[in-house]
Amino acid sequence: MNEVIPTTICILGGAGDLARKKLIPALFDLYIENKLPTTFRVIGFARTERSNEDYREIVKEVLFPFVSKTDSSTLSAFIETFFYATTVSDSDDTYIHLKEAVENFETEIGAKTNRLFYLAIPPFEYETTLTNLYHSGLAALDDNTHFARILIEKPFGNTFSAAKSLDVTLQKFFKEEQIFRIDHYLAKEAVQNILSFRFANILLQSAWNNAYVKEVHITLKEKNNVATRGSFYDKVGALIDVGQNHLLQILALITMDEPKSLSAKDIRGKRAEILSKLKIFTDDTLQQNCIKAQYIGYQDTEGVASNSQTETYFEFKAGIDTEAWRGVPFYVRSGKALDEEKVLVEILFHDVATGPFETSSCFTVGNKVELSISPTEETTLTLNVKEPGRKYQVESKKLLYTHDTKAVTGNAYEKVLLDCIEGDQTVFASTDEVLASWEFIHSIMELWGTVVMQKYAQGSNGPEEKLFN
Ligand code: BG6
Repeated sequence: MNEVIPTTICILGGAGDLARKKLIPALFDLYIENKLPTTFRVIGFARTERSNEDYREIVKEVLFPFVSKTDSSTLSAFIETFFYATTVSDSDDTYIHLKEAVENFETEIGAKTNRLFYLAIPPFEYETTLTNLYHSGLAALDDNTHFARILIEKPFGNTFSAAKSLDVTLQKFFKEEQIFRIDHYLAKEAVQNILSFRFANILLQSAWNNAYVKEVHITLKEKNNVATRGSFYDKVGALIDVGQNHLLQILALITMDEPKSLSAKDIRGKRAEILSKLKIFTDDTLQQNCIKAQYIGYQDTEGVASNSQTETYFEFKAGIDTEAWRGVPFYVRSGKALDEEKVLVEILFHDVATGPFETSSCFTVGNKVELSISPTEETTLTLNVKEPGRKYQVESKKLLYTHDTKAVTGNAYEKVLLDCIEGDQTVFASTDEVLASWEFIHSIMELWGTVVMQKYAQGSNGPEEKLFN
């Protein structure tokens, strides 16, 4: 049990999709693993009128598939920690019921609590919500012993100017150390492993640059189509949904300089620095270096415009303007409704260029590092070795390491919640990272309309024309 100060966890959008699918199950797992503060309360907050009992019924329903994880009294005790408050939309004090609910808890336990505000709401409601939250005074604690922290999910805006405006609102009302911008990819074990793989192995350090690396592929392929998320997705598209955040964060971890320490400040600083070195696309460079496509049938999805020009697939070839990475192409791609489920980083090294083992003369391939993020969490290293036998021949073999992480760390949302409670911002995006990645994506978005939209069949390998295989 975490013996920290009592904590109030407010879920704004407490009965929504994110709360049901991710947050309530993650809190449940943390609870049964004794990782939450000894004294805590969860307050769901939303527009719909509900009693605490109604809300607990929802929680019970959400937890139904997981009940076998614990006994019935632990389950009931967990459900009892949930309370509910309703937004008052026609009042000056929209958050009055939330305030009462927080204060009632603090009066009951006779102590102030740390407060977490998780914005599990549609992104277009962020600015109003943050403004209301600030004016409610709930996030302003007047002593140095308690904290109030804001958890906000990507996408951080659906245009560069919206992202900047959201950032201004956040900075105006809250301190950077209060703001936890969630990119759940950063919280995945296999993604966190990238830094140790790179910097804890001297073997790799000197080869991790343009003298040795030929190209890098970063791929996120999903089998699912947009399904019920049409109205959200159609305003966003694949590039903003996963490119601006998850995939650029992976690229940052693959290419950033070594941080001075493992502190959040140093790691976030290095991630932001390399993101700011991405080469901005121009009219001339975009056409040859970007692909966009939409799966057939997307326009019939509920919530999607019948003539929608939103991409469900993209590829881009990025470059980084630093001494270490100049000249290396970074191929990034993602799509929905594809033939497989795969999140994979491939680092392809140059062939041996001279001598008896020059690879084209011995029919082997260049070395390759594969970092699989999902569905498996694996690191693979392709090496050339002597083929057993009397004749001296070389063949390529794979060394494979499977990370056994699920049992140890739970899912990314558990990490996000715990790290926020503990105040560790390492796996959260800083304002500099968000703005740098947006600046790069904006250079694509600005000219996106000029790129031809390809079509692809659902369940296929994407559009015919590709930048890489
Ligand atoms: C989310 C996107 O951020 O990431 C989804 O909004 C996408 O569209 C998801 O499916 C992928 O995450 P994961 O963890 O399932 O690979």
